[in-house]
Amino acid sequence: MVHYFLIYTLIFLKCISALTPPPENFTLTSITYAGTGCPAGSIAARLSPDRTKLILSTDGFAVQSGDPTYPASALRKICQVSIAHDYPTTHQYRIVAPKITGLINISKNVNATTNFAVYYPAFDSPIPAFKATIEGPTYGLTEWNLTQSQPEWPESGWSPCGGPSARTLNLNVQNRLYVKNVTVDEGRAEIYTFLFDLEWRNEYCHS
Ligand SMILES: *[C@@H]1O[C@H](CO)[C@@H](O)[C@H](O)[C@H]1NC(C)=O
Ligand SMILES: *[C@@H]1O[C@H](CO)[C@@H](O)[C@H](O)[C@H]1NC(C)=O
Ligand SMILES: *[C@@H]1O[C@H](CO)[C@@H](O)[C@H](O)[C@H]1NC(C)=O
Ligand SMILES: *[C@@H]1O[C@H](CO)[C@@H](O)[C@H](O)[C@H]1NC(C)=O
Ligand SMILES: *[C@@H]1O[C@H](CO)[C@@H](O)[C@H](O)[C@H]1NC(C)=O
Repeated sequence: MVHYFLIYTLIFLKCISALTPPPENFTLTSITYAGTGCPAGSIAARLSPDRTKLILSTDGFAVQSGDPTYPASALRKICQVSIAHDYPTTHQYRIVAPKITGLINISKNVNATTNFAVYYPAFDSPIPAFKATIEGPTYGLTEWNLTQSQPEWPESGWSPCGGPSARTLNLNVQNRLYVKNVTVDEGRAEIYTFLFDLEWRNEYCHS
């Protein structure tokens, strides 16, 4: 018993002590994106001044239902975002506590679901996906949290170690309405910003 207690305590302490502040020279170098939810000029990415948050803003990444004139594609929009970034070879990071701000106006019989997956080209490690579902009726401007789709694997999600050619961060984002009857159940879900808190560590990378 005592042994297990000690081992768990050590693991816990190790997890706590593993985090470092964001590296001074962590920068975003470019962003590209494509998809039904993000026409040219509609997405921008920036870091918070203290570099602890990555913020994506949109021009209104919207899905809607409840009008017979809307095409079926109005229920689901996707966006594939690629962010090139630069950070030291000694560090890696992960996205935690993702939040969205937006407008959710959905009637009874409508649910709004947002989700995204994170990946890095040619990097074979467990990378998380996050999601949230809001049930109607709900009206107004709001902020909501996304949670990990695989919470049973808490050590997942660390980026590759950095360097001059740090791999690109790719985000696959989906905004979607689930409705009982698409012609009568009214809904609109519009995303304005994605806020990603970043956690850093430096003990598993070699310089
Ligand atoms: C960041 O700064 C560290 C320490 O000054 C340096 O070793 C590293 O090369 C820099 N990395 C980048 C990506 O500029
Ligand atoms: C959303 O609902 C709010 C509160 O009912 C309303 O003021 C607003 O006009 C609606 N916006 C849209 C785009 O439907
Ligand atoms: C979202 O998470 C934050 C902590 O990161 C918490 O303070 C807030 O209450 C949560 N919001 C909702 C709507 O659950
Ligand atoms: C919305 O979510 C609730 C609870 O998960 C579910 O019972 C309902 O069938 C969903 N509605 C639609 C239209 O998908
Ligand atoms: C949706 O609602 C319309 C208008 O009430 C009705 O004509 C139609 O049959 C409904 N469709 C389904 C699949 O229930």
